[in-house]
Amino acid sequence: MTHYWHQHHREAALEHLQQSSWLREVRWLAEVDSTNSLARRELASSWDRWPALFVADRQTAGRGRATRQWWSPMGCLMCSFVVGVEHVPGDSALWPQLSLVTGVAVAEVAQSHAAQSQVQLKWPNDVFVDGRKLAGILVEAIPRAVDGRMSFIIGIGINVAVDWSEADPALRQRACSLAELARQPIAVEQVLIRLTERLQVWLESWQQGQWAWREMWTERSLLTGCHIQVRLPSGRMLEGVCQGIDASGCLLIQISSGIERVQSADVIAWHSPP
Ligand code: BTN
Repeated sequence: MTHYWHQHHREAALEHLQQSSWLREVRWLAEVDSTNSLARRELASSWDRWPALFVADRQTAGRGRATRQWWSPMGCLMCSFVVGVEHVPGDSALWPQLSLVTGVAVAEVAQSHAAQSQVQLKWPNDVFVDGRKLAGILVEAIPRAVDGRMSFIIGIGINVAVDWSEADPALRQRACSLAELARQPIAVEQVLIRLTERLQVWLESWQQGQWAWREMWTERSLLTGCHIQVRLPSGRMLEGVCQGIDASGCLLIQISSGIERVQSADVIAWHSPP
């Protein structure tokens, strides 16, 4: 019975995604190394069917930002959307904002399932609830082999209904899942359908030059007002009070000599004001 319902859900979701959404291709796999890596391989071949969505029930080599891994069991929604330059603003200086815009869509979907909780965004693009990580985003820009046109792989992992009993105890402490927050079962299919809808809306708004995403992002900012410590790509460390993000999406940090604007960095630690 469970299997039947599972299949039923899956088929209905696939049909819904294929018929009613902006996607030209939807592929759902039982297992893959990483949906982002699969998308990269497709882009390196003669494949040209974007926007596309790749989803997997399990990943054997899920990737996080930098060189980190993403723990990828059943119950985690793991997917990669692939879009082309026609879905992003013409000015390439704005492209780094894509991961922030995606964060807004993910947070909104999470919030709709967990009404009692406050879903927050940790710059650049982690989704947190009560200090625990609920979702992660990994955006990669790669030229497509057929015509060299730039394409964007938007990788998203959301802990929907994860069984933490197999997880590393340290991870278990730092993470949370949507079903725990909602105190009811939630199917990954349900979350994926909402995510596909909201991502389309936010991408369109961003592509058309609207800045609504920034306001939504700022409202959910976890780090604003916190004392933070960041590591820059050069290895240099910075410490100070986070002042939110600027218009372009850079992190602002108040240090003794003024305000530092950081385009890319790893936030190592953060503490709320006393
Ligand atoms: C992070 O928090 O560092 C980003 C995590 C991104 C995980 C998702 S799961 C689907 C997609 N495929 C991957 O290998 N990674 C992303």
